[in-house]
Amino acid sequence: MRRRSLLAMGAAGGTAAVLGTGTSALAATSGVTADSRIWAKHDHDFDPTSLRALGSRIGMHIGSALIPQDIDTPSYAAIAASQFNVYTPGNEMKWQVVEPEPGVYDWTGADNLVHFAEQNGARVRGHTLLWHNQLPTWLTTGVANGSITTSQLWGLLEQHVFIEVGRYRGRIWQWDVANEFFLDANPSGIDPNNFWIQALGPTCIPKAYIWAHEADPGAILVYNDYNIAGEDGTNAKSDAVFAWAGQMLDQGVPLMAIGNQGHLDTQYGFSGQRFQADLERYTTLGLKVAITEADVRTFVNNATDQVPTDNLALFAQPFEFGQMIKAAIAVPECLSFTVWGFTDADSWVPGFFTGEGYATLYDVNLNPKPAYYELQQDLMESAGVRHHVRTRNG
Ligand code: G3I
Repeated sequence: MRRRSLLAMGAAGGTAAVLGTGTSALAATSGVTADSRIWAKHDHDFDPTSLRALGSRIGMHIGSALIPQDIDTPSYAAIAASQFNVYTPGNEMKWQVVEPEPGVYDWTGADNLVHFAEQNGARVRGHTLLWHNQLPTWLTTGVANGSITTSQLWGLLEQHVFIEVGRYRGRIWQWDVANEFFLDANPSGIDPNNFWIQALGPTCIPKAYIWAHEADPGAILVYNDYNIAGEDGTNAKSDAVFAWAGQMLDQGVPLMAIGNQGHLDTQYGFSGQRFQADLERYTTLGLKVAITEADVRTFVNNATDQVPTDNLALFAQPFEFGQMIKAAIAVPECLSFTVWGFTDADSWVPGFFTGEGYATLYDVNLNPKPAYYELQQDLMESAGVRHHVRTRNG
């Protein structure tokens, strides 16, 4: 019944009527609770110098995006299990994958990842419910040719959120509900040309949070984007997301955390100080933060071997990883530090940035690189000096 009434309001497009007059206190309390599940394995079952074991000593989950081959290939799965205790599906929970045809669902990859996590005492970051990319063709085509009406699209979006979040209710720690809505521009703001904004208007974003919260009240609901913590030179995008997040909280939207992706490139430079300051600024709203897709790419000899062509990159790449994790460690509200794939062997980078690679913690032969040892060292040092242990995860 509740779903139907939300759908009706969604079709009408009235934000105020739906959102009520909640307060930002919701962000500080909802969903951010300890998970009482009895895990098959615990962090202390793993090598005490592993990233996950070290992170657990300071209350920080260390994660990686995983694609099916990371789970299916024993040598990859061994690293995923032993080093990381939160997993994000690289693609397997995206709408294109889970509903390739209208009403025809394929949960194979998503189920495998959740199962793998539970077997290994790891948590899951759900990714992502509302994004302009990797949508099923039947949906984008239907919207373009008018065979899916605006009112039907509201219904499809609501159904998508309820079905996917509901399927994994109680098993997903953080959900990236909305992803990459803001412009890379100065001034920034919600991109008016975004597929969802054009089709439904900006009200669809808060609606997705409301539906996701109803479908799984225990999940931490995240807004996820790139260049929103001091990486863009002007800070325009960070300013825009900060202002929007405040508005959402004022309207009672169950937004609980900001996920900064952390896709860096050594050619642009990077200020860890600004990164930390912007993470801290989100927390002044009562929000948690997370690093959700960290990697640091650089120019390489070829996509197969991925040897940096500039010797300085051998220092810059681990240095920038170190800057990111140091900032994350310094912010007690930072829930997790996740890398977007752990090995250059299956990183998304060479396929998207011509001539670049070497973006991850392990080389193409699964050997740990200096960036791995940088994170390990930073976690070791912080484990010895921090006092606010276990305040992050409730
Ligand atoms: O599955 C098809 C396969 O059947 C086909 O043969 C092949 C041919 O190119 O394509 C395969 O699909 C690819 C898919 O990844 C699965 O491998 C798509 O072409 C490719 O575009 C897609 O890339 C993904 C990208 O999002 C799409 O924008 C990357 O793997 C994924 O790592 C990346 O992740 C995003 C986050 O979700 C959001 N933040 C940025 C991040 C990096 O782009």
